[in-house]
Amino acid sequence: MNSKDMQLIAMHNIMIELYHHILVQTTEGEAALQYMLDRGFTLEDIKKEKIGLSPNMNDFAIKALSEKGYSNEAMFQAGILSRNEETFSYFDRFRNRIMIPIKNHKGNFVGFTSRSLDGSTPKYLNTPETDLFQKRRLFYNLFDAFKMIRSKNEVFLMEGHMDVLKVKTTKVKNIVGLMGTSLSNEHVEILKRSCDNVTLMFDGDTAGQTATKSIGENLIKSGLNVYVIPLSEGQDPDELIVEKGVEAFEKYVYENKISFVLYLAEKSIKEAKGNDLLFTERLTELIDLLKYINDDIEQSRLVKEIAEMFEVDREVIFKRLPNRRNTIR
Ligand code: GTP
Ligand code: MN
Ligand code: MN
Ligand code: MN
Ligand code: MN
Repeated sequence: MNSKDMQLIAMHNIMIELYHHILVQTTEGEAALQYMLDRGFTLEDIKKEKIGLSPNMNDFAIKALSEKGYSNEAMFQAGILSRNEETFSYFDRFRNRIMIPIKNHKGNFVGFTSRSLDGSTPKYLNTPETDLFQKRRLFYNLFDAFKMIRSKNEVFLMEGHMDVLKVKTTKVKNIVGLMGTSLSNEHVEILKRSCDNVTLMFDGDTAGQTATKSIGENLIKSGLNVYVIPLSEGQDPDELIVEKGVEAFEKYVYENKISFVLYLAEKSIKEAKGNDLLFTERLTELIDLLKYINDDIEQSRLVKEIAEMFEVDREVIFKRLPNRRNTIR
């Protein structure tokens, strides 16, 4: 690690402590702390994750870090300050926001995601791309989850940082969050090196369903086994826990894990009903994905289920699958 990287991490460590102090120890932080408690996080969760509050000031980080000898330029390079490109003046990037620290895969704090408290947009503001904060290489919570991902040989992928934070408080701890909605080739490689099974648990809204389809296809084609835990329309994992409680959530996760191809088949049937052309197109797409099912028992089961759902002869599907015909019957 070069000295610039070490500086970036050191600055984050300082700011994380200060923001955390403001949230949990000061009157200025009371309303924001109450907001987090109302969302169902305990004080212990908040302390463990070092969640904080950035005060509503343009120069809080500037003052704190310049006292420690850091230059404005260094703070800017670290993503802690923004710069007005007309006046070349610097100001705090994060103001009046819940601050959620983000570690890289080595466990160093390299950035933040932050949530607005007053309805201002954007709802979430992240650290910009820096030398150490590269969204295409980062998963939220990967460092903390890694051991359990390895031992379970499974990772749960979620959309929201709040979802990950909340689900971490349940028994389901092998979870990571996407930094945004796209999955890069680097992300896929990281997942492949970590385990064989990926379970998608995205929001139940249209955005979440669209992400499930595209990310699931990408992952299955890369050789991973992909499962989905569908949520009802308009619900995310955090809301499910708030509404039903931790134990009901754990039970839901255990009982609602379906193969990605089957998830897609159910969606396709609904969408293509009454449209024979689309029906054939969708079935063809599904058969293409069945090729990527690694486990022959699972593949055989899925062929049977999909043949029944689409009311076609199993042979039609078998014939299009390479190699394994003797094992599927
Ligand atoms: P809460 O409303 O706090 O529960 O957040 P959420 O995680 O449920 O947010 P939502 O479902 O609207 O969005 C899912 C994820 O997309 C968020 O966790 C963010 O990572 C990201 N996201 C949402 N809104 C924004 C935004 O305005 N800017 C950026 N950069 N990311 C966003
Ligand atoms: Mn492997
Ligand atoms: Mn959403
Ligand atoms: Mn939410
Ligand atoms: Mn959500």
